[in-house]
Amino acid sequence: MAVGVFDSGLGGLTVLDALVKRMPDQAFIYLGDNANAPYGTRTAEDIYNLTCAATERLWDEGCDLVILACNTASAAALKRMQETWLPADKRVLGVFVPMIEAVTERQWGDNSPPREVDVKHVALFATPATVASRAFQRELAYRAIGVDVEAQPCGGLVDALEQGDEMLAEALVHSHVEALLRRMPKPEAAVLGCTHYPLVEAAFAEALGEDVKVYSQPKLVAAALADYLDRRPEMRGAGTASKFLTTGDPKRVSSKATQFLRRKISFEAA
Ligand code: DGL
Repeated sequence: MAVGVFDSGLGGLTVLDALVKRMPDQAFIYLGDNANAPYGTRTAEDIYNLTCAATERLWDEGCDLVILACNTASAAALKRMQETWLPADKRVLGVFVPMIEAVTERQWGDNSPPREVDVKHVALFATPATVASRAFQRELAYRAIGVDVEAQPCGGLVDALEQGDEMLAEALVHSHVEALLRRMPKPEAAVLGCTHYPLVEAAFAEALGEDVKVYSQPKLVAAALADYLDRRPEMRGAGTASKFLTTGDPKRVSSKATQFLRRKISFEAA
């Protein structure tokens, strides 16, 4: 048994890397649904069905706890999965809440009513499906009042990163940041709401300027999961064998992943 980590493609590897650094003795089984990526331009129904299928595949590997290391799946499918589909002995957690807790300076489990926070203007960069779901605004409203969120759907960015085209990715970051700043000239914080985007975090920071605090998910999610597993050690699983599974072509995905994370990664067919 191990903890499952899921993304539509390679983006979740940025989260996996932080999880492994934070919990080196924990086994993780990664599943990339590369055959169906990107999810960011799909309908919510499609994303829900694909995410349920991938989660079941990770259950077959003995992972009772699955992390959706994908904002698009967390935004479009997680709530419905938790409310209508998940068996009592399984858990699925997303990547949104740890980031929102960081922006709103909340501790885990603090269910007090929404309150005023320091940050008043937040820029959200995410896939078109995540932006359309408005899940970020919904989760934020549970915790904070008086925060203005301006969201920018970053069309094309996931594709450029999956293709390994860094120049195109950086050019897209600059044009998406410019588009957002035209609507919200002075955000205090920017949230990178897609697990692919940490790969171009430096480009976001440069385009936004030094007055904007950039929140990136991997470390926040790793800290939240370490804390969760301390409280729920039975979800840790006994296994020691980590592996990488893909619904795509393992050879092609391994080579992209190796390029993506700049270390050797070998995927097997899911
Ligand atoms: N990396 C995923 C996310 O965090 C989604 C990318 C995609 O498939 O569009 O949103």
